[in-house]
Amino acid sequence: MNLQAVPDAPRHEWVIRPMQFTDLEAVAALEARTFTLPWSLAIFHGQLARESGICLVCEDARAIVGYLIADMFVDVWHLMNLCVAEEVRRQHIASRLLEAYFAVTERRGHRGHTLEVRASNGPAIELYRSFGFVSTGVRPGYYSDDREDAVIMWKDWEGDTA
Ligand SMILES: CC(C)(COP(=O)(O)OP(=O)(O)OC[C@H]1O[C@@H](n2cnc3c(N)ncnc32)[C@H](O)[C@@H]1OP(=O)(O)O)[C@@H](O)C(=O)NCCC(=O)NCCS
Repeated sequence: MNLQAVPDAPRHEWVIRPMQFTDLEAVAALEARTFTLPWSLAIFHGQLARESGICLVCEDARAIVGYLIADMFVDVWHLMNLCVAEEVRRQHIASRLLEAYFAVTERRGHRGHTLEVRASNGPAIELYRSFGFVSTGVRPGYYSDDREDAVIMWKDWEGDTA
């Protein structure tokens, strides 16, 4: 079915599902619209090809409106990318992507989750705090375009250790 031929399809019926290679052009386009240092299509491709990773998208009947990418390095999950289209922010799409991510990762033993976020990115820092991340340090001048600092955030594993 050609989804573009359904003009009245509800925009609010969001679905979270695993990212596919066929999603990558749309994902990279959203990335390029959002970030000053966007990942290239090749970086997304390489990340999706890694078996250890988790790559999720959120879509409605018309388009991909968000995505999340994470990977396990040694015994720590790294939340590497999270993005929601500007026109649908503050509708808990990022929260749903994070809930889906935790539903998978909390079933597998590990030490915890870490991420880096621009020091000026109040919305993202607030979001991560609301999920239990705490600031544990700063990487000075981490971002190559304007040398902004990165805040390092951490969240302990809360899965079942029994
Ligand atoms: C950060 C981002 C992913 C949040 O996505 P979102 O779908 O709008 O977030 P949610 O609706 O799930 O927000 C959940 C909570 O996070 C906090 N939050 C999110 N956006 C916020 C904002 N602009 N100001 C203050 N708090 C905010 C709030 O506590 C919010 O809960 P509430 O709406 O019930 O008050 C989105 O703004 C985005 O894509 N920004 C650009 C890319 C980016 O910065 N990615 C993160 C890189 S580390």
